[in-house]
Amino acid sequence: MYIIAINGSPRKEWNTATMLKRALEGALSQKAKTELIHLYDLNYTGCISCFACKTRRGVSYGRCAVKDDLSPVLKKIEESDALILGSPIYFGTVSGEMKSFMERLFFPFLTYTDPPASLFPKKIPAGFIYTMNVTEEQINAFGGVSHFSNNERVMKLIFGTGQSLFSYDTCQFDDYSKVVADRFDPEKKLQRHREVFPMDCEKAFRMGAQFAGGRHD
Ligand SMILES: Cc1cc2nc3c(=O)[nH]c(=O)nc-3n(C[C@H](O)[C@H](O)[C@H](O)COP(=O)(O)O)c2cc1C
Repeated sequence: MYIIAINGSPRKEWNTATMLKRALEGALSQKAKTELIHLYDLNYTGCISCFACKTRRGVSYGRCAVKDDLSPVLKKIEESDALILGSPIYFGTVSGEMKSFMERLFFPFLTYTDPPASLFPKKIPAGFIYTMNVTEEQINAFGGVSHFSNNERVMKLIFGTGQSLFSYDTCQFDDYSKVVADRFDPEKKLQRHREVFPMDCEKAFRMGAQFAGGRHD
């Protein structure tokens, strides 16, 4: 059992990475082999619309033909038994690096057929961990983020499964007094970081353990 986690935050020790590491600890507890990949360490682009992955009888049909730092990562994912993506929310969606990565990962495996089909070689547990500043109430007041359900839908289409895990109202700064960020109450942020964030991390641990056990219900 080989589980890969993809960090779409530029920060390697903060909210998103912490949750992903906890998820991999959950997988390790089930004796899985794990790997954490930081997207911001890599040089790559999003999909360049070359359509090599869609070309009839093409050598790269169903696979991304672009060669850059993502190529070995995409290969590893094809060989993995479970996948967990993680991203902070930037302006209501995932980070730019995560978005570019998703284009390169998802597009080659999805056929332009009706209905669409998956060219990913097997069914694997797949999940997405999101961290964000807003509270759950604030996001619901805006009608939720359709982006999340769309990602779930695409993951289900490609990998056969797609779970989402959310960490709201995260602590963004080491020291709120050093930044201009008056709309946040530092005490409340710290309290939530101490009391709620560990529970979010436990949910991530359970996701990892569950995936390593081959379960994704
Ligand atoms: C460029 C940028 C844009 C952001 N936009 C949003 C946003 O639209 N909604 C939100 O809830 N949080 C937003 N945030 C806050 C982050 O999503 C949040 O602090 C997240 O937990 C950071 O993840 P990290 O600690 O793993 O880097 C933004 C942060 C940055 C740096």
